[in-house]
Amino acid sequence: MSRGPGRHLAPRAEDELIENPDPEARRLRTLLPYFRPYAWQTAATVTLMVLVTLTQLAAPALAQYAIDHAIAKNDEAVLGWCVAAFVLVGVLGMVANGLQSYASVWVGERVLFDLRRRLFRHVMDLELGYHESVPTGRTVSRLTSDIEALNQLVTDGATTLVINGLQFVGVVVILFLYDPQLALMCFAVFPLLAIVTAAFRVGSARAYRRTREKVAEVLSVLQETLAGMRVVQGFGRQDAARRAFGDANVEYRRANMSTIYLSSLYFPGIELLAAGGTLIVLWSGTERVLDGDLTVGVMVAFIGYLSNFFDPIQQLSQLYNTLQSASAALEKINGVFKTTPRVADRPDAVAMPPARGAISLDDVTFEYRPGRPVIEHLSLEIPAGSTVALVGATGAGKSTLAKLIARFYDPQAGSVRIDGRDVRDVTLDSLRAQMAVVPQEGHLFAGTLRDNLLFGRPGADDATLLAALAAVDEGDLLASLPNGLDSPVSERGTGLSAGQRQLVSFARALVADPRILILDEATSSVDVQTEHRIERAMDTLLAGRTAVLIAHRLSTIRNADMIVVLDHGRIVERGSHDALVGAGGRYAQLHGDWHSLVDA
Ligand SMILES: Nc1ncnc2c1ncn2[C@@H]1O[C@H](COP(=O)(O)OP(=O)(O)O)[C@@H](O)[C@H]1O
Ligand SMILES: [Mg+2]
Repeated sequence: MSRGPGRHLAPRAEDELIENPDPEARRLRTLLPYFRPYAWQTAATVTLMVLVTLTQLAAPALAQYAIDHAIAKNDEAVLGWCVAAFVLVGVLGMVANGLQSYASVWVGERVLFDLRRRLFRHVMDLELGYHESVPTGRTVSRLTSDIEALNQLVTDGATTLVINGLQFVGVVVILFLYDPQLALMCFAVFPLLAIVTAAFRVGSARAYRRTREKVAEVLSVLQETLAGMRVVQGFGRQDAARRAFGDANVEYRRANMSTIYLSSLYFPGIELLAAGGTLIVLWSGTERVLDGDLTVGVMVAFIGYLSNFFDPIQQLSQLYNTLQSASAALEKINGVFKTTPRVADRPDAVAMPPARGAISLDDVTFEYRPGRPVIEHLSLEIPAGSTVALVGATGAGKSTLAKLIARFYDPQAGSVRIDGRDVRDVTLDSLRAQMAVVPQEGHLFAGTLRDNLLFGRPGADDATLLAALAAVDEGDLLASLPNGLDSPVSERGTGLSAGQRQLVSFARALVADPRILILDEATSSVDVQTEHRIERAMDTLLAGRTAVLIAHRLSTIRNADMIVVLDHGRIVERGSHDALVGAGGRYAQLHGDWHSLVDA
């Protein structure tokens, strides 16, 4: 359903459409544990629901009693009691109804709150690989529209189910108790009712499923188009986008209309059957009343109960859609829960003590997808405090190597060690606390400049922040922000250029003061001037740390202690700049290309 490019990179993620024949009831039962913390509140809510139903069922019976025992016998005292009981039941019903509405929402919202929180925590724990392979929109809809589908069930649907279910059963029992013969006659419409309802259920389930699919299509077109707006407008493809959206939109409308079409047939149909039932009661009842075989009160009660009989059927048949979409949503949510983090702390993981920063990779093999190793039997020692530059063609595996060092992924074979400790033996938190990664496009979060700089070290004071900024910036950045550290920044819309945002992410890494710094083409998206500035700041940035530098530009690489040339996941050359140029191999070739570029 999703047309996102990430779809093809999703070997493990649960798919959007789950065709699992798991029965709905069993699926919905997985929601029950979330009610456990609110057991007595839930019990109270159900009790209130029963009370509401009882008060609703009492009214026709009271009317029957009043007619047969007070009016027919001209007994004012009994009539008084009946009226009093009627008022009492009415008031009780109102109060119970109010409390019940409140209580069911109270419980429902808490259950959903817990679910949302647990799901978000789980998503936070899933390794980067998950987030790189599953389109963001899909994860977002797990936490929003899927939870919303459950919301309809938990707050509203459950109430409808219990009250209407009890009412339906109650009416059937009461009518049989009153007069089995008349009851049987009324229920003669039942087979027809069952057929019509079953047909509606099947039809509306199908139609409803289509609306869900179509709305997902509309959303996916929308998301794709908006995310790629620069390209869409750049190529003047707005018309195509309009058409694509228009098509999806038309289909969505049609799907919606078909559900309305079904309802507008079904509901009047039920009304008709209800009228038929009433007719039967009036016709056969009147005859029997005249024969002295039935009281007027019972006949009136029958007519009263019949509306209590057809109403629940309508409500319950509509509920089916709610149940269905809730169970589909739950299935998808459970799919996320079932996805266990691939990179996680071992039970016996210990906190990593402050590192010196020696990195060693020992015969590491890694593949994103089975059978396609991206890093093969790679061994590399990076002494503490030294700077290593990784060079190689696009796709050689440089970024992957950096991600292995930061343990965003675990290798299939071999090990990554820091200060001689396998990174899998220490906690992720303590490992990452010693590292900072500056990717090609550092992400700025909505907030102030200060918030963003503090990201890696929440306690740092302003002087530290300003010093970090000063190290990478000659004052232009701060000058462009009138409120200094309090200036709002974000990914978009606050007037920072891509280069300036990158300067902020450099400063952020400096504030974090990591033992190991990984720069993954961190300067490739900035302009030449900014890059020169960062290069001049490089001494400060790298001083006293172990650094892994991935860069395209020669000037950044030249001063590294060791240059490692990668090709298809293997190291083909390593050594200092001068040594490698002298050796006349791959690096010398790259070096030659750079020169000819610069000279041209
Ligand atoms: N998340 C991913 N899932 C599957 N394959 C990936 C993923 N990331 C990178 N690759 C593949 O791994 C190889 C190395 O990628 P990468 O490490 O990003 O190279 P470099 O940084 O040297 O350009 C490429 O062939 C790329 O297609
Ligand atoms: Mg890369």
